[in-house]
Amino acid sequence: MKPSFSELLDAVRKVVAGKGDEWERLKAVCDLLYERVEYYNWVGFYIVEEGGKVLALGPYRGKPTGHMKIEAGSGVCGRVAQSKEPVIIDDVRKEKNYLACDDDVRSEIVVPVFKAGELVAELDIDSKRVSAFGQDDLQFLRQVAALVAPLF
Ligand code: SME
Repeated sequence: MKPSFSELLDAVRKVVAGKGDEWERLKAVCDLLYERVEYYNWVGFYIVEEGGKVLALGPYRGKPTGHMKIEAGSGVCGRVAQSKEPVIIDDVRKEKNYLACDDDVRSEIVVPVFKAGELVAELDIDSKRVSAFGQDDLQFLRQVAALVAPLF
């Protein structure tokens, strides 16, 4: 079932304006999304490093992943680092350029985070469901990305 994205956005706003350092608040945003949206089964940020050549794992919630660093062009996240456009993958098993971290994952959405016009991070969400993510998720997550951008 879809949650109330407008209520969730209010909750994200509170976390962003709340206590803790930037990392703690980004982690709290991951926790919030993971806990409130039943089909968000891994939620994390990748942080742009080396002028966009590398992504480094930031705060996340879900199973630990082996992908601590991702090169631009590699996997879904690495492609978004180059295109700077969001991507929805309906079925990761049909994807050739994909970095798997958990066999249970079936679909994925990656949304760029821009600060002052620069790509600074990506919000990456995995689901155990095929085709879990729609345009409503994309619209919501773009808004989340805009809210968290000052924390990078
Ligand atoms: N699947 C991603 C890698 C990150 S994990 O999902 C946490 C990709 O292909 O870029």
